[in-house]
Amino acid sequence: MDLKIISGTDRPNAYALKVSNYVQTLYQQQDVNAEVISLKDFPLEEVVGGLYGKNIPAVEKFRDPIINADGLIFVIPEYNGSFPGILKVFVDYLPFPDAFEKMPMAFIGESAGAFGALRSVEQFQMIANYRNALQFPERVFISRVKSEFDEVEGLSDPFKQKLLNSQVQNFIKFVEASQNKEMDQLV
Ligand SMILES: Cc1cc2nc3c(=O)[nH]c(=O)nc-3n(C[C@H](O)[C@H](O)[C@H](O)COP(=O)(O)O)c2cc1C
Repeated sequence: MDLKIISGTDRPNAYALKVSNYVQTLYQQQDVNAEVISLKDFPLEEVVGGLYGKNIPAVEKFRDPIINADGLIFVIPEYNGSFPGILKVFVDYLPFPDAFEKMPMAFIGESAGAFGALRSVEQFQMIANYRNALQFPERVFISRVKSEFDEVEGLSDPFKQKLLNSQVQNFIKFVEASQNKEMDQLV
């Protein structure tokens, strides 16, 4: 199984990347390969001027491992009550309409504030819905990320840590189920 964890911002030293790296260790504990891909590596300079729909080799190189994965885990911060602009830019440079078609996706929100990027995740899920992704219902929201998350220990709230562990274990099963032929005919 080939999963990708998308760190959903280009902000230097972002918690999204720290959380992504931690979540990768949880997948490793389940013997599942989940590579972290950060949107800080999206080739933004190659799309200046609005090159939508054009073949841009640097963009293809960045996006192909993502759209060819078996499942995606998005780690999304909250910027101005929404998800970061670079995440929308990334989506707007994906092949349309097939890039996310039936793609299993899980979501983790993280923010400095109290709501753990609930708004950001739900707004992004509207796009995932429009693009016919298979959205895994167990979501995790990490509030006050600077004090409630540790890069080695994980989440200080045992209940939220349990939710995160559960998401990891059950998303693996969800991706496996999505590969089942009968399921494929249904959705
Ligand atoms: C442009 C910008 C807007 C932000 N807006 C919010 C916000 O609306 N709500 C919030 O809780 N935190 C907000 N934050 C703080 C982030 O939640 C904080 O940086 C946190 O560490 C998660 O983002 P990160 O993954 O970039 O580190 C904002 C940060 C930036 C850079």
